[in-house]
This record gives sequence, C-alpha cells and structure tokens, in this order.
Amino acid sequence: MLTSQKPLKDVFFCPEESNFYSYCLQSLVLNNCLSSETIIEFGSGDGSPVINSLNSTEFAGTVQGFEINSMSCALANERINVCGLREKYIVHNRSLFDTATPQGDYLISNPPYLPAIDNKIYQPFLHGGIDGITVTKQLLSLGYKNVLAMIASYSNPVGAIDYALTKGYHITDFIISPLKFGYYSSEPKVKNRIEELKQDNMAFYSKNIYLLAGVLFTKQSSSSQENLSTELMQLMTCL
Ligand SMILES: C[S@@+](CC[C@H](N)C(=O)[O-])C[C@H]1O[C@@H](n2cnc3c(N)ncnc32)[C@H](O)[C@@H]1O
Repeated sequence: MLTSQKPLKDVFFCPEESNFYSYCLQSLVLNNCLSSETIIEFGSGDGSPVINSLNSTEFAGTVQGFEINSMSCALANERINVCGLREKYIVHNRSLFDTATPQGDYLISNPPYLPAIDNKIYQPFLHGGIDGITVTKQLLSLGYKNVLAMIASYSNPVGAIDYALTKGYHITDFIISPLKFGYYSSEPKVKNRIEELKQDNMAFYSKNIYLLAGVLFTKQSSSSQENLSTELMQLMTCL
C-alpha cells in the first residue's frame, strides 16, 4: 500500500524545490492560459507540484505527466485520484523520450539536473549528465513552442541558456529563488562534481546557497521580441 511516507531513495522529496517549481508553474504558465491548453510534464515525481497548482488556479486544460520511476508514478496517480483531479491530470509510467513526442502547448519540467560523472548516485533518475544539463537539452530539442524548465546555478546555467537560444527559443519570463543545498545535491560524488564545475566557471553558488530559476522559453516568432537571456545569465552567475 502506498503512503505519504516517501523514502528519499525511492521518490524525489524536496518540498522547497517542488514548491518553487509549483509557484513558477502557476505564475509563468497556468495563470496566463486562456483556454483549454494541453500541458506535457516531464518527470512528475509524486505529482504534488502540479496538483497544488491545479488546486490554486482556474486552469481549464489538462496535464499529461511522464514519470519513469514506477513508485513515484503510482504515488502521483494515487494523489491525483484522492484530490479528484483525474479529468485534468494523469501521469504515465514511461519516459517521454521513449514514445512519439506527445502534442502540447507547453512542456513543463523540474528536470533531473544533478551533475556527476555517471548515474551511480543516491537516486540515479536525478542524474543530469556530467554538467547537469543533458536532460534539459534533450527537452529543449523536442520542438515544443513553450518550455518551462527549472535551471540550477550549479549545473552549467549559461550552457543551458545558450543551448536554448541555438534551438530558436527566447526567454519570455523567469523567476529566481535562492535555495539551500539539499539531500541529493550534498551527496559527496555530486558535490565534488559541482566543485569541479565551479573551477571551470560552470557552477555558481555560495557556501550553502545556490540559485534555482524557473525559465519560460518560447520559440522565437519575431526578432523584435524582448530577450531576457543576458539578464538571466548575469543573475545566475552572480554568486
Ligand atoms: C527533480 S525530480 C522532480 C519531480 C517533481 N516534478 C517535483 O518537482 O517535485 C525529477 C523527476 O524526473 C524523473 N525522471 C528522470 N528521468 C526521466 C525520464 N526519462 N522520463 C520521465 N521521468 C524522468 C525522476 O524520476 C524524478 O521524479
């Protein structure tokens, strides 16, 4: 039987981060949706960020989540049922990369972004490649018009933003918050890699604090659109 007890090794559990992702989702996406938009979510975890957002907004569309971790997926769908949100939110137990790319107006994700030399870390599904942005770059390659992605200042933030620009995105809006290093990012193997990235000017943080940004990328439709990428890069590299 599933309970709300989530062993840190099995299901992603970091309320500060999940709550901030939920706040970004409401502010940058759901509150600006005008009709019944379809949203695709990569990496739903226990589903709580989207559930909280649906309970706090008037969003009239649907969210299709994809979660590779079967325990997380089961927990998410149990919570969705308990909250009576089955018509609006469903989580599929598979990788978004293993299927034909589903159609949607937005792709949203708090993706795996832990940098490490390999995925033999406390929770392998949180591995974001050697500099932390491998999955983020894959998500930015799927062709969605709008992408809300969480970007960490210790995971090559400039590389992530530059990659988005090469894929034809501009930054429509963003929100930044300082966060304390948590359970997963404090694992020695991950922390060592973060320190190496800092030496190479690819990770930015102070002793206990890093910055997490919710960034709304939109495919460029005209050259006159304001681009916030320079401002975001300056902020994400300020620590
Ligand atoms: C940082 S956690 C975010 C979870 C949740 N969205 C939150 O913010 O609380 C990233 C999630 O992505 C999932 N994940 C990793 N690789 C995946 C893949 N290829 N397809 C779907 N989900 C994946 C992980 O299992 C994990 O639950």
